[in-house]
Amino acid sequence: MNLSFEEILKQRFACKAFTNQEITKDNLEFILEAGRLAPSTCGFEPWNFVVVSKKDNANLSTICFGQENVATASYNIILLARTDLQAKDEYIKKQVARICSPSDEKRFNNILQAYTYETNTLNEEQLYAYAKSDCYLALMQMALAAMSRGIDSCMIGGFEKDKVDMFLELKYPFQTAVILSLGYRREEPKYSKKRLSLAEVVRYY
Ligand SMILES: Cc1cc2nc3c(=O)[nH]c(=O)nc-3n(C[C@H](O)[C@H](O)[C@H](O)COP(=O)(O)O)c2cc1C
Repeated sequence: MNLSFEEILKQRFACKAFTNQEITKDNLEFILEAGRLAPSTCGFEPWNFVVVSKKDNANLSTICFGQENVATASYNIILLARTDLQAKDEYIKKQVARICSPSDEKRFNNILQAYTYETNTLNEEQLYAYAKSDCYLALMQMALAAMSRGIDSCMIGGFEKDKVDMFLELKYPFQTAVILSLGYRREEPKYSKKRLSLAEVVRYY
């Protein structure tokens, strides 16, 4: 199945329960690749994607308020936000080195300081929020990629963060940002899309 972009936008919905049909490895990798290619602020890619397979669904669902989509997913992808996004951090120096050689010291430091102008003054909680907003871009890109191949999904923000962090035994600089449950819809959506009209959300200035 290869859907047009318009069809993908119409067909994607927050799927509440999935069938037993498994997602193939090829499709899983296609979805992960869509996440990898997502844009991010300054190209920081402040994420990791953890693929959780079905055997852990029950445990994961328990710490996601028992949500059935998490419990029945073929895979749950947990998107982690990373918070080592300041000029002092090796990870960011490495990201910046991709566009400017550190041997060109002056230019490298100028770019490093410019790119981290916003993050350098943030505390850990604010860095997490900063990284999480980029994770949402990868999240959306993965959900749309999945739908393009007829695979349904649900974005999951309803979870006990500390418990999911513990479940994955996360350490600095990683924290759970959001989850994407993936599978095939058990039933059609109960409601048609509810959205504000264009007139309510668009302003021409
Ligand atoms: C960041 C985020 C977190 C969400 N968390 C949940 C969730 O925990 N459980 C759930 O069933 N739906 C969740 N949703 C789905 C939204 O409720 C849903 O996208 C919205 O109501 C619009 O419906 P639609 O996606 O079917 O068009 C989440 C969506 C986003 C963007």
